[in-house]
Amino acid sequence: MRTQVGIIGAGPAGLLLSHLLHRAGIESVILEARSRTDVESTIRAGVLEQGTVDLLTSTGVGERMRRDGAVHHGIELRFDGRGHRIDFPTLTGGRAITLYAQHEVLRDLVKVRLDAGGQILFDTPAVDVDDLDGHCPAIRFRSGSRIETLTCDVVAGCDGFRGVSRTAIPDGVLTEHVRAYPFGWLGVLVEGPPSAPELIYASHPRGFALASTRSPTLQRLYVQCDPADEVENWPDARIWSELHARLQRDDGWRLAEGPIVQKDIVPMRSFVVEPMQHGRLFLAGDAAHIVPPTGAKGLNLAVADVRVLSGALIEFFTSGERGGLDAYSATCLRRVWRAEHFSWWMTAMLHHFPEDDRFLQKLQQAQLHYVVSSRAAAATLAENYVGLPFQ
Ligand code: APR
Ligand code: PHB
Repeated sequence: MRTQVGIIGAGPAGLLLSHLLHRAGIESVILEARSRTDVESTIRAGVLEQGTVDLLTSTGVGERMRRDGAVHHGIELRFDGRGHRIDFPTLTGGRAITLYAQHEVLRDLVKVRLDAGGQILFDTPAVDVDDLDGHCPAIRFRSGSRIETLTCDVVAGCDGFRGVSRTAIPDGVLTEHVRAYPFGWLGVLVEGPPSAPELIYASHPRGFALASTRSPTLQRLYVQCDPADEVENWPDARIWSELHARLQRDDGWRLAEGPIVQKDIVPMRSFVVEPMQHGRLFLAGDAAHIVPPTGAKGLNLAVADVRVLSGALIEFFTSGERGGLDAYSATCLRRVWRAEHFSWWMTAMLHHFPEDDRFLQKLQQAQLHYVVSSRAAAATLAENYVGLPFQ
């Protein structure tokens, strides 16, 4: 099997890359370890930056997102029993975010690729990548009980944090930057209407809580928990009791309860690998970097990477010019590190750090008060949250 761009992974990065390349007449094949049903139904992120929305819209995959997604013009920061709204349009010159679940984005992208005759091989895990330094790299993949080979001009490693592409890069090439946080998020899906029109980020001595939404009938709620905890330790009553305590507001606001239909625990970590490329292999999305979910940047960073990568590949295949590809990692890492900082900053400001002494707790409270009382500080949060413009 042969193609121009061999893509490992049908997440947001791999599917969008394939779509953008196809629009420029460049062919690709996507190898995906999971089934189509799995890819299209796994609950992940849900906040789209304005730039992500604009890119999906301008490339013809924004129709359902515009119809079913919800545009939000602000978020609420809640602490000490009070809510403080951060208004995005007034602080960012009119920008906003759209709430639209990641798996719905994936559904739209899978459909547009398959309708155009694109090749997505589901249930087909890549095993390893050979000959990265030559002109003809090869991806070995499992198809049923057989191992087969996809040769290509370029490999895009879009296989997430636990994929095989990053590990195919020889020892000594990559530098890894890692930060683990002393907590995780217990996330639940709740049937019922939202309790508030916008997302609520709550900082509380018992720990962080977040009220987000997926649709008018399905809500996504989180509580900070021990990273090694298990969902079995969280019966519904305990979850509701923590949510009520952490989201409490003095004016009598009430969180609406409903049936909990799913629970999971995600660890919190920051991770960046430098450079994001080696020879003919280019890493994009979670394969190259992870952010804690507090800033809602994971999906948007994956989109930003493939925006840069698709532009560089189109230049390479149409004119033979390698400048964009050579600069790929450096170009992406500027935005990646900005998002890493923002995600770390939001995480540090809003969570309860078990080891913090009184001094650090006082600093955290001072920071919260500053963000909700200074226009400059609120604007810093807002412009990062809606997404900085592309340079
Ligand atoms: N072979 C083929 N596919 C693989 C392999 C492999 N060896 N290993 C992993 N994959 C697939 C996974 O099954 C998954 O569908 O690669 C895909 C990677 O997708 P994501 O993890 O979603 O990563 P990415 O496209 O970079 O998107 C990042 O997704 O998980 C969220 O929070 C994250 O919002 C962020 C965004
Ligand atoms: C979500 O809806 O899953 C979500 C929203 C905002 C975040 C993180 C997750 O910061």
